[in-house]
Amino acid sequence: MSLAAVNPMPIQTGQQNAKSMVSIDAVTMSFGSYVAVQDVNLTVADGEFLAIVGPTGCGKSTILNAIAGLLKPASGTVTIDDTPVKGVQNDIGYLFQQDALLPWKTSIENVELGLMFRGVGATERRERSMSWLAKVGLKGFEHRYPHQLSGGQRKRVQMAQALIAGPKVILMDEPFSALDIHTRHLMQNELLRLWQEERRAVVMITHDLEEAIALGDRVAILAAGPRSRVIESFPVDLERPRDVAEIKLDPRFMDLYRNIWASLRGEVEKSYERRD
Ligand SMILES: Nc1ncnc2c1ncn2[C@@H]1O[C@H](COP(=O)(O)OP(=O)(O)OP(=O)(O)O)[C@@H](O)[C@H]1O
Ligand SMILES: [Mg+2]
Repeated sequence: MSLAAVNPMPIQTGQQNAKSMVSIDAVTMSFGSYVAVQDVNLTVADGEFLAIVGPTGCGKSTILNAIAGLLKPASGTVTIDDTPVKGVQNDIGYLFQQDALLPWKTSIENVELGLMFRGVGATERRERSMSWLAKVGLKGFEHRYPHQLSGGQRKRVQMAQALIAGPKVILMDEPFSALDIHTRHLMQNELLRLWQEERRAVVMITHDLEEAIALGDRVAILAAGPRSRVIESFPVDLERPRDVAEIKLDPRFMDLYRNIWASLRGEVEKSYERRD
C-alpha cells in the first residue's frame, strides 16, 4: 500500500504563495570564453523543492555553485532571502555527490563541523550532533570513522552535517547517484521525511528524471550546453508525503514522466551529438 493511500491529507503541493527564497535573475556563467549558461532565470520559494535536470555538462553544478557563492556570475544576480550573494554563503547546506566527510574525523566530529563554523559552543554542539545522528538512524555509530561506515551511512552523516544548522537553502548535487537502487530509495525517503519536518527551500540537481519527479515540487529542464538556459519548468502535483518507490507506480507519475521526458530527450540527444 502506498504512503499516499495511508495518509492522503494534507495535500501539500505548490508553493505559489510562499515568499521567494532563492532568486536567479538573468545569470550568465562563463569559464574564459566558454559560456556555460546564459540568461538563466529561476526562483525557488521558501519551502519549495526544485529539481533541476539536464544533459551532462550543461551547467547544473555551475548554477548550484553560483547559488552557493562558490562561483561568480559573469552577469546577472543571485539573491538568497532578498540578499545578493557575494562570496561563500553561510546559511546554505550543501550535499555533494562525492563523499565529503573528513576521513580523520568520526561521524559525530564531522557533524559537529556544521555547527563549529557558526560559533556554537562545544557542549551544545555535541548534544545537537548526537540528536541529529539519531535522527538519521545512526545512533551507536557516533564514534566510527568514515571508512568504518557503508556508503549509505556516510550519506546519512553528510545529510546530518548539511541540515544541522537549519540552513535557509539546501543545495544537493546528485547526492545519491553513487548508491545502489535500494539504498537510494531509502535515502530519498529519509530526505523527504526530514524535509517535511521543517521545510526549507531545496535545489536538487540530478540526471535521474524519476528522482526529480519523485522528490520535487517542480522540475526545471536545462538545455544542452553551451549557453544552456532553462527551457521549461513542470509543476509536480503529486501529494505528500510520498514514498519514492510507490509513487513511480502512480499513473500520474507516469504521465508526468512522459511529458517531461518529451522535453528533456531532445536536449540529451543534442548533447550526445555535440560530443562527436
Ligand atoms: N572550472 C571550469 N573551467 C572550465 N570549464 C568548466 C569549469 N567548470 C565547468 N566547466 C564547463 O562548464 C560546463 C558545465 O559544467 P557543469 O559541471 O556545470 O556541468 P553539469 O551539468 O553539472 O554536468 P554533469 O551532469 O556531468 O555533472 C561543462 O562544459 C564544463 O566542462
Ligand atoms: Mg555536475
